[in-house]
Amino acid sequence: MDFWRNKEIVLVVGGGIAACRTLDLIRRLKELGAGVSVVGTEAATRFVTPLTFQAISGRPFHGDLFDPTLEGGMDHIRLAREAHLVIIAPATADLLAKMAHGLAGDLATAMLLARTGPVLAAPAMNHAMWSHPATQSNVTVLTGRGIQFCGPEAGSLACGEEGVGRLATVETIMEVARRCLEPQPLTGRHFLLTAGPTREELDPVRYLSNHSSGRMGFAIAQAALRAGARVTLVHGPVAIPSPYGAKTIPVTSAREMHAAVMAVWDRDTANDTLDAVVLTAAVADFRPARREAEKIKKSLDSAGHIELQANPDILLELSQRQPTLKNRNIPLVIGFAAETGMALERAREKMSRKPCHMLVINDVSEEGSGFGVATNRVTLLHHTHEVETWPLMTKEEVGKRLVASITSSLSHPFHPVH
Ligand code: C5P
Repeated sequence: MDFWRNKEIVLVVGGGIAACRTLDLIRRLKELGAGVSVVGTEAATRFVTPLTFQAISGRPFHGDLFDPTLEGGMDHIRLAREAHLVIIAPATADLLAKMAHGLAGDLATAMLLARTGPVLAAPAMNHAMWSHPATQSNVTVLTGRGIQFCGPEAGSLACGEEGVGRLATVETIMEVARRCLEPQPLTGRHFLLTAGPTREELDPVRYLSNHSSGRMGFAIAQAALRAGARVTLVHGPVAIPSPYGAKTIPVTSAREMHAAVMAVWDRDTANDTLDAVVLTAAVADFRPARREAEKIKKSLDSAGHIELQANPDILLELSQRQPTLKNRNIPLVIGFAAETGMALERAREKMSRKPCHMLVINDVSEEGSGFGVATNRVTLLHHTHEVETWPLMTKEEVGKRLVASITSSLSHPFHPVH
């Protein structure tokens, strides 16, 4: 929650129409406790006045490299040094070109040349300017020097045309900015997650499902991404936005989820690029034995009887496939156990039936825990039989702690759980 508190951000604003949208970025950063100093190019002040930047940021605007009122005239060096992060938004074609060539003719570019810490660029421009080989080669040069990029996104542009060139949203810039500052212990690691409910169709209108919102799984995906992992997220029907940067595979039924997970497992265990599998999805254990092509009529004699058939159990199948990975990287497999009472006993029984490295247990009948709520109280059952009980936390915090625990397991050698 407190991530942004006391973080010092220097926001470099280039001269594009998207300069107006950076006002929301400043507001959001400030709301979350960060301090924002705005450095604008001369062109930026044609779109938004220094007074506006000053009023929104609550700090003096910086625009003049030769401001005689500044002590020692070293504003560019001080700004470059003191910021936790420099965000350039909008990063115009002109700013990117100047940075790629090391030009330092104004305060913004001089500050960027003096900067040694992390820099995030959020470009915005006309789509032809963005795709021009000159801009693209500048982006390649800057990426090679460690500048992070965020966007631009596709959509309708200020020039009235459609294409790639829109400034990323405030939420996306904030998320990528956060990842620039978070430690990245999972760089090079790949996580596969399942999340949300599945839907098992009865007829074209009705289905069997459950209350899973997908929030726990999405929070784990988010935490893994923030720690630098690559994330594949197979999810059932949910109403929440996907975490930025995850490769999402939306599915509907348990059988689709099973097929998607097995395809990733087979491909990525074969080339040793799968490190952890976290199965948070509330997969329907059963599906209607038949899916009727027509809506079932009220008057049917069979009303009240739905014949069911077992769905494939993804966790069980992965636990069986693990020992077959001879001489290969063995991914950690983590299951979830949503119970209503007797949670630990039931989880122990589950662990012996579907051996995995860890089961994350929650009693969904407990207040503040389980489906649809923002918090969760979980107990971890390790395959070593060790039990860890965590206090009530937000799902975001549970996700973060769980990812930290997986990170530490990954740094020690481990074996199949059989
Ligand atoms: O046995 P139970 O359904 O309670 O096990 C829960 C765990 O197994 C969860 O991790 C869930 O994602 C996974 N599961 C699965 N495939 C199923 C049913 C459950 O992967 N068909």
